[in-house]
Amino acid sequence: MTLEVDLVPFAGTPSRADFDCGNASLNDWLRSHASQHEKSGMSRTTLAVPKKGTLATWHAAGFEDVDDTTILGFFSLSAAQIPLDQLPQGKHPKSVPAIRMGRLAVHRLAQGRGFGELLLMEAIARAAETSAAIGVGGLFVDAKDEKAAAFYAKYGFQPSLDDPLKLWLSLKNLLQYSSG
Ligand SMILES: CC(C)(COP(=O)(O)OP(=O)(O)OC[C@H]1O[C@@H](n2cnc3c(N)ncnc32)[C@H](O)[C@@H]1OP(=O)(O)O)[C@@H](O)C(=O)NCCC(=O)NCCS
Repeated sequence: MTLEVDLVPFAGTPSRADFDCGNASLNDWLRSHASQHEKSGMSRTTLAVPKKGTLATWHAAGFEDVDDTTILGFFSLSAAQIPLDQLPQGKHPKSVPAIRMGRLAVHRLAQGRGFGELLLMEAIARAAETSAAIGVGGLFVDAKDEKAAAFYAKYGFQPSLDDPLKLWLSLKNLLQYSSG
């Protein structure tokens, strides 16, 4: 049974209270800070919600509590300037303009079904689109722990020199993803 999602901009209305990805700081950010960041333009958050018209499929798959407002996952992007010591080995100037993916998470109940990859590919596509209009050197991510870092490493993100939880996907590599 294929479970499908729509990716929608953060609108402030879906029910954020019951989002649980297993990481308290990510849950708390979505519940308490995403709205303020959206209003001030500090970051843009994209939500995964059940695809319109597919609730019956979600219910049949055992997700009885899922409704139109359930958030199944999210990511947030913002502009950033990344200092040299947070980048992987390579030829970089002192700092590099970048897109920062501050957060990406999937609801515990929906993990392991490909939604993390779907969200990551959408974030990569957005970064590639942005790079056509504004110079960026790559996509930077702050992983919350080693497990999350392993997820990003699977997609070619490289750890920084000083901190294995700060990972980088160069523009060249992200453009390769977005061109298929
Ligand atoms: C990490 C997370 C986003 C992965 O999302 P997910 O929906 O469970 O992952 P997917 O089902 O899309 O997995 C896609 C691929 O990544 C792999 N993968 C998933 N989690 C992984 C991990 N921690 N380490 C290595 N690989 C991982 C899967 O095996 C799958 O590979 P395959 O297709 O070769 O089998 C999710 O588990 C999560 O939200 N965790 C808690 C919050 C968090 O740590 N967020 C990231 C920090 S910002």
